[in-house]
Amino acid sequence: MKNKIYNPFVTGGYIGPDYFCDRQNETDLLLKAISSKRNLTLISLRRMGKTGLLKHVRHHLGHIPKGSRAVQKPVAVIYVDLMPTMNGNDMMNTISSALLHLKQDEKSFLGKVLAILATLRPKITYDNLTGQPTVELKVDSPSDIQFGFDHLLSFISEIKQDMVFMFDEFQQISQYPEKNMENLLRTIIQSYPTIPFIFSGSSKHMLEPMFSAAGRPFYQSAELMYLDKIPAPDYRKFIVEKFESAGKKIDDEAISRIFTWTRLHTFYVQDVCNLLFEADRKVIDQDLISQVFHRVLTSHEPLFASYRNLIPGHQYRLLQAIAVEDGIVQPTSGAFIKDHSLTSASSVAASLKSLSGKEMIVQSGNKWVVYDVFFSRWLQYQYGNK
Ligand SMILES: Nc1ncnc2c1ncn2[C@@H]1O[C@H](COP(=O)(O)OP(=O)(O)OP(=O)(O)O)[C@@H](O)[C@H]1O
Ligand SMILES: [Mg+2]
Repeated sequence: MKNKIYNPFVTGGYIGPDYFCDRQNETDLLLKAISSKRNLTLISLRRMGKTGLLKHVRHHLGHIPKGSRAVQKPVAVIYVDLMPTMNGNDMMNTISSALLHLKQDEKSFLGKVLAILATLRPKITYDNLTGQPTVELKVDSPSDIQFGFDHLLSFISEIKQDMVFMFDEFQQISQYPEKNMENLLRTIIQSYPTIPFIFSGSSKHMLEPMFSAAGRPFYQSAELMYLDKIPAPDYRKFIVEKFESAGKKIDDEAISRIFTWTRLHTFYVQDVCNLLFEADRKVIDQDLISQVFHRVLTSHEPLFASYRNLIPGHQYRLLQAIAVEDGIVQPTSGAFIKDHSLTSASSVAASLKSLSGKEMIVQSGNKWVVYDVFFSRWLQYQYGNK
């Protein structure tokens, strides 16, 4: 792969450490938590790089560098993405399928997993594209979930290899129709102290209370780690190196402009750099950057324009005002309301609540901002062209 001309700015997943910028401290913290068998919860804004970080850590756990003097053995990672799951049955299907991906080479492993889950009537299907086996269980009640999860954990705790469970988008379980899911999982997880769990999610208002509100089953059961923006100097170095390795030049001013426009938010930086890299240019100049920004906005236009019909008038005006100000500390302040004709503080407070519930806006640092950076830029652009 290295000799191929390849766009080094990845926007759709993790393809290896060469294309992953920094996150050294976070990676070390996660590796330490795992080797000390501590549970950890990773929280950040959407698209900041949680899944990338989990996969980067997984990569490290599976590849002990040659000549490393540390007494380390590869750790088996069970990575489970709960985003598409809607209930306990989906969750169990995803967990048991993830388990199968662990040791596909060992034929009897599949048989063992199926035997453990026999009472849940497992069915195996093979993914058309990847050929990977997936499990479908018949889970009828919370006690089936308890049975299945407990037996799976008991089974893997007997495998003579260190393990870690990674639950991505863990807040999803609070959306399941089964009411006692948090309790049930917490009780089972607690009885396997030798298996560390990493929980990850973006929905701060759902995930954080699960772990930090007294009275919730997961209260204080994992240390919380907030994933912030990649520090600008590290990201700058990464970007310069990637362009230079392809014989392209990008200067400090150009990078600063990209960082400001994308708020240094990982996905958006990657996306803009990906498009800049793709252009057949030796020098990334201001003109090309303007073209790429414009291209980004127009390519998202159909989606962004559709929000106009989905969001009530007052909320939309507030959204636009926040975008125009490029974030606002106090949206209920008199000056802001007057400048943007937003009626009253109480109506702004109500719209704020509604927009934040829909994750259209979020508090970042001390400011309210439009969550999707490109949408925020599009709203500004629309306003400027009025
Ligand atoms: N350290 C990094 N260096 C380079 N690219 C990264 C890095 N971290 C993440 N990315 C890229 O940024 C994008 C967003 O990252 P990722 O999907 O990991 O974020 P996330 O926080 O899990 O988002 P979501 O909340 O939507 O699940 C991905 O395309 C990923 O490839
Ligand atoms: Mg993710």
